[in-house]
Amino acid sequence: MTIQKVMVIGAGQMGSGIAQVCAMAGYDVYMNDLKQEFLDRGLSGITKNLGRSVEKGRMTEDEKASVLGRLQTTTTLEDAKHVDIVIEAAVENMDIKKKIFAELDQHAPAHTILATNTSSLPITEIAAATGRPEKVIGMHFMNPVPVMKLVEIIRGLQTADEVYGAIEDMTKKLSKVPVEVNDFPGFVSNRVLMPMINEAIFTVYEGVATPEAIDEVMKLGMNHPMGPLTLADFIGLDTCLYIMETLHEGFGDDKYRPCPLLRKYVKAGWLGRKTGRGFYTYE
Ligand code: CAA
Repeated sequence: MTIQKVMVIGAGQMGSGIAQVCAMAGYDVYMNDLKQEFLDRGLSGITKNLGRSVEKGRMTEDEKASVLGRLQTTTTLEDAKHVDIVIEAAVENMDIKKKIFAELDQHAPAHTILATNTSSLPITEIAAATGRPEKVIGMHFMNPVPVMKLVEIIRGLQTADEVYGAIEDMTKKLSKVPVEVNDFPGFVSNRVLMPMINEAIFTVYEGVATPEAIDEVMKLGMNHPMGPLTLADFIGLDTCLYIMETLHEGFGDDKYRPCPLLRKYVKAGWLGRKTGRGFYTYE
């Protein structure tokens, strides 16, 4: 399975980061989103990141130009007909993902791998929306994608070994480290991370300490680069709630019950950095 051409669906924070690292590794990339303005925004973020790499001497102007030259934008999924792999990073909604995968299955050539960057939805269920479940796999990047080394690779129930192998090779080519996990709610990353974040929110809710104090404890006491509440704002409180609900529903265990304060903030539209307010306020 030779991978040369990639389509990334979604030009948001995750999708644009994935498109950037793919283009930097030499792949030709189609970046797809619903509207050209979303694509333009994604592309301008990538251009800014590459500009910073040039300033820091990690990349020449020529290299930056050739990375940008490998990126093109499209608003139609029909362009999946040109690619060897699609990496979907659209919104975390099962119905939308199933619709996208069913459509991709129509347009993509038979050899094309369909990967999803979902942070917690079942790969097996997404795969069942296609006629090629053996070619569907989870490829979970971490935010910010250009910086974080991990790609959690999730095998669905029917994922073929050669598909897993191709994704493992591609991950290494992206200068990232693949880690294999099976398809269970939250996989490994969010099964471990989100209950910690949820517990930090309970700690605020119960008045044990301020967000600043909790973050300081975890940063200075446990050497975490960001405290859990800063990280929750960074990930997005809506995403954190969605993942907790997936864990709660998937395991049926009360230990995954989302904190009422998290629900309240999401209802208020306090979603973290992206809306300017979460546990902290942002300019
Ligand atoms: N895009 C590209 N590069 C970025 C970036 C971004 N969004 N944010 C930071 N960087 C780069 C900076 O340019 C800088 O690079 P140089 O040193 O070459 O200049 C480098 O990262 C360090 O940045 P800063 O000095 O500004 O800040 P920092 O040292 O505090 O690092 C951080 C920032 C890398 C985000 C660090 O705080 C960190 O690792 N935080 C934890 C992130 C984390 O846990 N991510 C996983 C979230 S969970 C997830 O993604 C999965 C899920 O399903 C929810």
